[in-house]
Amino acid sequence: MVKVGIIVGSLRKNSFSKQVADNVVPLFPEGFETEFVDIGNLPLFNQDFEEDLGTPGEYTEFRNKIKELDAVLFVTPEYNRSIPGVLKNALDVGSRPYGESVWNGKPTSIISQSPGTLAGFGANHHLRQVLAFLNMPVVQQPEVYIGSVHELLDEKGKLRKDTLELLQSFVDTFVDLIKRHQS
Ligand code: FNR
Repeated sequence: MVKVGIIVGSLRKNSFSKQVADNVVPLFPEGFETEFVDIGNLPLFNQDFEEDLGTPGEYTEFRNKIKELDAVLFVTPEYNRSIPGVLKNALDVGSRPYGESVWNGKPTSIISQSPGTLAGFGANHHLRQVLAFLNMPVVQQPEVYIGSVHELLDEKGKLRKDTLELLQSFVDTFVDLIKRHQS
């Protein structure tokens, strides 16, 4: 079974990002399983954790969880034209200690969303910059920017058919990238 972790860049209970991510889960084919990875419990990164403060248990648990995964999908909102701090914190935690990054080489993909019309473009591309440095092959096309997200979700949290079609082609490309990476 190929394991895909889903990391949502919002901790909000009714997060649109989480609702979008829930719509993506059933689009993966047989042989793939998805799992949401919690990032809300990670203490703020402090490099002293690598020295005298010692490693928080939450860091070890998170790093081990990411190590088990074959691939990672990020679904994120945009905060002030960038990624939310909670997501950057998780990326930083997984990247250390130096030379032991758990992200290294894992195929990944990005969905950004916003109730606004710019659809999280800034967050999407700031995240790409970080993932490039972390040496993660990223799905390039189709790019997925979901704008006016609140208008695309119905009262049950289901996305419109045309948005789901775009997401299906995105997932298909991601699955190809993961398979190519494994062979
Ligand atoms: C926002 N929001 C926002 N939206 C956007 O399109 N571009 C932006 O730069 C920002 N900046 C921003 C900063 C902060 C601190 C907050 C709290 C919000 C609005 C944001 O897109 C909206 O709250 C979404 O609903 C957040 O996503 P979730 O939590 O629904 O997944």
